Amino acid sequence: MCGIVGYVGYQPVVDILIDGLEQLEYRGYDSSGIAVKTSDKIEVFKAEGKLCNLREVLKPNVDLFKDSTMGIGHIRWATHGAPTVLNAHPHTCNCGNIAIVHNGIIENYKELREQLEAKGCVFKSQTDTETIAHLIGQKYAEVKDLTKAVELATKELEGAYALCVMHNDHKNKIVITKRNAPLVVGIGEGEFFIASDVPAIIKHTKKAVYLGDNQVATLTPDSFELLSADGDIIQPKVEILPWEPVALSKMGYKHFMLKEIHEQPDVVRNILFGKLHTPDEPIILDEVKLTKDKLKELNRIQIVACGTSLHAAMVGKYLIEQLCEIPVDVEPSSEYIYRKTVTDSHTLVVGVSQSGETADTITAIKQSKARGSHILIITNRPDSAMARLADSLIPVNAGIEVSVAATKSYTAQLMAFYLLALYMAEIKNSVEQSLLINLKSEMMILPQKIEQILSSTENIQKCARAYANTRDFIYIARGINFPTALEGALKLKEISYINATGYCAGELKHGPIAMLDETMPVLSILMKGCVYEKLLTNSEEAKARNARMIALTNSRDEKLESLFDYILRVPDVQEIFSPVISMVPLQLLAYYISEFLGKDVDQPRNLAKSVTVE
Ligand code: AGP
Ligand code: GLU
Repeated sequence: MCGIVGYVGYQPVVDILIDGLEQLEYRGYDSSGIAVKTSDKIEVFKAEGKLCNLREVLKPNVDLFKDSTMGIGHIRWATHGAPTVLNAHPHTCNCGNIAIVHNGIIENYKELREQLEAKGCVFKSQTDTETIAHLIGQKYAEVKDLTKAVELATKELEGAYALCVMHNDHKNKIVITKRNAPLVVGIGEGEFFIASDVPAIIKHTKKAVYLGDNQVATLTPDSFELLSADGDIIQPKVEILPWEPVALSKMGYKHFMLKEIHEQPDVVRNILFGKLHTPDEPIILDEVKLTKDKLKELNRIQIVACGTSLHAAMVGKYLIEQLCEIPVDVEPSSEYIYRKTVTDSHTLVVGVSQSGETADTITAIKQSKARGSHILIITNRPDSAMARLADSLIPVNAGIEVSVAATKSYTAQLMAFYLLALYMAEIKNSVEQSLLINLKSEMMILPQKIEQILSSTENIQKCARAYANTRDFIYIARGINFPTALEGALKLKEISYINATGYCAGELKHGPIAMLDETMPVLSILMKGCVYEKLLTNSEEAKARNARMIALTNSRDEKLESLFDYILRVPDVQEIFSPVISMVPLQLLAYYISEFLGKDVDQPRNLAKSVTVE
């Protein structure tokens, strides 16, 4: 959450900072700001809301900074203090000589603030970040060395941070450091580009250094001095980024989300490429580094994830238990890390994350790794912090996902779980060969089925218009589609702000049914298979309470016509693959409702694409 950028070199800095922030805007859009070193002082510019507001603030000030070649920038996802201009970064110390941008949370900021106020520091914001600016200011007054001041100040910080720091007395110097938050330095000729994430630097350079926790780097246009956590000078490890600069384009679609929904057939093809050749051949999953014997010995799998990735993981549990007969637990990472958990070297721990940056999932993975479990990471970002912790890494190759609401990455994660479950089933011999062949054949035609849905969306659009003005929405399903109900509801909540909830249909009568009346839409994910008849009964129960009934189904059963007000039909598919097919219309339904309501589809309020705070 939140993006930081920095630049020190010879080029005009403001365009570089703003362009970098634009590439990171998916990380937060509560406010933005930059600090640049001009000939006489550090100038700070800030604006509430999206980056376009900062651009407006900068316009009349061009003359002030046209010769500046050093600066830092920030886009904020507020954790402490409202998203106002005063709370926007960069923050400065008392005398204004030090400016900093920060990503993370300082857990002991209250104590530090009290101590600093007692020493005469005057706080202008409610943020935790401002304490860091004052603390560095105090240390600098003592040691008169910016690097040393940053080193000393960070020793007193508890929590997570990535920091860029500049000082008025140093025309050409930025000091950076991090702990449990990402920070990468792009290396140019006579210039350095600092950022929370690669998209902000890739168009300038492919050479980069990922900073390690507690390392402190001092950058000038022609030097990169790196100190280890122990304060020793170390050689920066330069990596070549496996990325091409991509022009992020909506390709004619009104929103990134719609474009990304439409990319899903290719996303499925991409992930299957090279892994599934023909139904008769075994799945090739060289990414899994466990030996076959180790795989057979596994007695448990623990999956950790958040949000949409958690829902993909829940489908994964269903698949692995059904096909491989290994018990699987799925838990939100944020719960997993705050209790005594019992994974060990016989447990495979799987972390699922689009961004590979989610702080809770990273912590969960670190804890399990320390207990000796093999770590398998399923991510869309093979260059991420989480990927670096992996013993086995399955990149889902969905391509950059810009829309904050995840769509194509979910489908890609589901496909990774199908591949993993089938791969393990083949090794464990836990499923009849004929069934495996049958499943692999069906898997190969999933892209065409998704294309069929995407080729005619009029009915979904009509349904969206009919239900857009509801306050609440209930999704019900059973079995392997229970996670689909949760994910369908999450999509709608995220981008339309309608209070949507997913339930396993059997639970409806244990409480939620009390909410049903003629105003409540109930969407039943009614896919043919072992729970079809039971779900039909649950739908009848909802209908009997006058709910407004919608079916998402692959059944051609005529009796559905009288039971449901709206029927969204999808191509026929085996039950085990129905989560892939049923999710696409639900993504579209959420999209069209949001669009109809005029909401900010790609950047919904209060959210950020990378959640780098616990
Ligand atoms: C998805 O639509 C959400 N924006 C969110 O729930 C997301 O899935 C969650 O924050 C996890 O992110 P990750 O997959 O990058 O770890
Ligand atoms: N805690 C800081 C703030 O609220 C930084 C937030 C972030 O990393 O998104 O301003």
